Amino acid sequence: MPLKKSEIKNLLESNDDKLFQSADEIREKYKGNCVHIRGLIEFTNICRCNCFYCGLRRDNKELERYRLSEEEILNCVQRAVNAGYKTVVLQGGEDMFFDSGKLCSLIKKIKKYDIAVTLSIGERSYDEYKDFKTAGADRYLLRIETTDKNLYAKLHPNMSFDNRIKCLYNLKKLGYETGTGIIAGLKGQSIDSIAEDILFFKELNADMVGIGPFIAHPNTPLAGDIKDNFDLSLRTMAITRLMLPDINIPATTAMETIRLNGRLIALNSGANVVMINMTTAPYRKKYEIYPNKSCINDSPEHCVNCIKSKIESIGRKVSNSKGSRYEN
Ligand code: 5AD
Ligand code: SF4
Repeated sequence: MPLKKSEIKNLLESNDDKLFQSADEIREKYKGNCVHIRGLIEFTNICRCNCFYCGLRRDNKELERYRLSEEEILNCVQRAVNAGYKTVVLQGGEDMFFDSGKLCSLIKKIKKYDIAVTLSIGERSYDEYKDFKTAGADRYLLRIETTDKNLYAKLHPNMSFDNRIKCLYNLKKLGYETGTGIIAGLKGQSIDSIAEDILFFKELNADMVGIGPFIAHPNTPLAGDIKDNFDLSLRTMAITRLMLPDINIPATTAMETIRLNGRLIALNSGANVVMINMTTAPYRKKYEIYPNKSCINDSPEHCVNCIKSKIESIGRKVSNSKGSRYEN
């Protein structure tokens, strides 16, 4: 459903719950009843960037850093495969130790399992994106975070908004299923700019969009900016479903972190994907993008069982397909 900017702004500012029902109906019509589970592997918490909101930022000296070995990563992949998941997401900070050679070798090994590989490792050159694609990577997640250029510049020292946009279009051009998204509730972020963000998802023709509420991390410059951004993130997500009816939309971990059963609420408001953490102790605790992340003390096996019963409790089914945008 194409909405004008003024209509998007009205929906963002309204308290009407009909938005969530409409998004749920559109999800059912275009994506069906199944929920796709992605196995998330947080393989490095080392990052060259200094994003103001993120606990993994370079200047957070309190955080103990880690990198998983190839063997450890493949163990996590095996766990996801054993659980029946058909996609793994390799997520990490911008850690240049993982160069094209190392990543391509890893991607090729994972592709032997006949599963989809999603990368979420930040900004790289066109040639690197191309190498990963040739090695077998299928999808890529790179949130724009905000399309407000001034806010983007304030929150991302030494980074370039234009380069981020360029990366997203490069990924599209190379044939990746391309995911983007934003953090909702950043200080200085206006409703107007969130409406622009949603229009940007449409313009890019994003294949996946992840929306998470901002959660203040104590060891960042945004510490203390504590407010509840759940509703704002949920509304943003639901409007995105109206605008891009057939895309994949995750119920995000950040939503679960600030609301009991936040993911189920999201699944009933337009979402059709869940990312389940396959990272094991002692690393899981150290991937602290924001505090009190949900499931931080659980094992992958616990999460696998827990999410299946939660999904079934709301009358939905766990998918057994790769869950790409155009498969149905
Ligand atoms: N609150 C919510 N989301 C955050 N992210 C990073 N820091 C925070 C935070 N404090 C999100 C960013 C990033 C993703 C991996 O996590 O959107 O792209
Ligand atoms: Fe690094 Fe991503 Fe965190 Fe920014 S949001 S500091 S790029 S891990």
